[in-house]
Amino acid sequence: MKRTVFVVLAALLASPLWAAPDGKALYEEHCSACHQSEGKGGIGLPLTEEILSQLTDDYIAKTIRSGRPGRIMPAFVALSDAQVAAILKYLRSWSNKPAPVYPKLAVKGDPARGKRLYQKHCQRCHGKDGAGEGSGTGVTLSREREFMVMPAAINNPGFQRAASDAMIADIIRRGRKVGGMPAFDRKLSDAEIGDLVSYVRTLEPLPPVHGMPEWAGKPAYIMESPYGFEETVDAIKQALTGANFRIFPARYLEQGLTDEFSVNTRQVAIRFCNFKELYHLLNIDPRLGTVLPCRINVIERNGKVLLVSANMVEIAKLFNNRELLEVAVLMEEIILGVMEEATL
Ligand code: HEC
Ligand code: HEC
Repeated sequence: MKRTVFVVLAALLASPLWAAPDGKALYEEHCSACHQSEGKGGIGLPLTEEILSQLTDDYIAKTIRSGRPGRIMPAFVALSDAQVAAILKYLRSWSNKPAPVYPKLAVKGDPARGKRLYQKHCQRCHGKDGAGEGSGTGVTLSREREFMVMPAAINNPGFQRAASDAMIADIIRRGRKVGGMPAFDRKLSDAEIGDLVSYVRTLEPLPPVHGMPEWAGKPAYIMESPYGFEETVDAIKQALTGANFRIFPARYLEQGLTDEFSVNTRQVAIRFCNFKELYHLLNIDPRLGTVLPCRINVIERNGKVLLVSANMVEIAKLFNNRELLEVAVLMEEIILGVMEEATL
């Protein structure tokens, strides 16, 4: 926002006809749940003195207005201009540093050279496509331990709309100490930073990853078998072997939970694994190990034989990690294929 606009706004707000909106109250109501009191950051990025000194008033106002579509920062369309200005004023009151002023000129550079520099210096944190992985929450499961907060999605249209070229260049130069982003002013020349900015400008969100629509939102895949209990168990084992899975000894679902004579032998878990896939998945997110659903349960109930397996894609969604989701979509296809073959 231009200074003159501010002066006019300030004059308006100061006039007795208007009760000035209370920036602190508005911040507490709309922002503090994610950004914490005084902008310590949590689910939302930190808004500390150091960071505010990189963010122009225009950037902050646009960020409040358009949010980060597809991420968790909402767009505040219902706030009036005066309310947005009051929040801004309140944010600035935390810091002695003035709002930065950047040159209006677009930064020039070569996006092809920028892409190579991006792969070398930025990709490990911001991801191949600039999505930063996760949904931009400081607490997401996929965050690497060393990061204080999740690297932001710099391919997000909300960010791209709000940030100027010169501001992006300044962030690269100075880094973000609070969040763990290094400063590149000593490592890269001005020309290289220009190349990077012009590449960052080309980043846009990838299309979303979906699993099979008919199973979306369902916690488990469930199919009814036309065969008897033992036949079904055999058919699943055969289909799994055909799909290159290694099968472990089957277990009764109640094994260990009750004594061996009252165990219900008409419900069994067939456990299987494809080590190559498994290592690949665990490489992407080791925490997946605790919830890996490599099993198909066969349950006989009221004369029906059912196949039940946890929905891979729904589990992967909890990890907010695109790469994991892509593998889960492939695994889903294979597991559903096995379940279908066994019940054909
Ligand atoms: C539901 C959580 C949530 C709420 C509510 C929220 N934010 Fe955010 N905010 C985020 C997240 C997460 C990001 C990081 C962007 C991303 O996802 O890539 C962010 C980013 C920002 C940024 C950009 C910071 C930077 O370093 O570039 C600003 C500025 C900001 N928020 C201000 C606000 C203000 C002001 C409010 C209240 C009007 C608000 N936010 C409400 C979660 C939230
Ligand atoms: C070690 C990890 C790491 C590296 C390497 C890294 N960043 Fe970041 N970056 C982050 C984190 C974390 C944030 C959010 C930090 C914060 O706001 O406190 C961030 C923020 C940003 C932002 C501001 C986004 C926003 O919404 O405010 C831009 C732009 C950015 N990085 C670009 C780059 C570029 C370009 C490179 C390569 C030259 C790079 N980063 C290298 C971790 C990294």
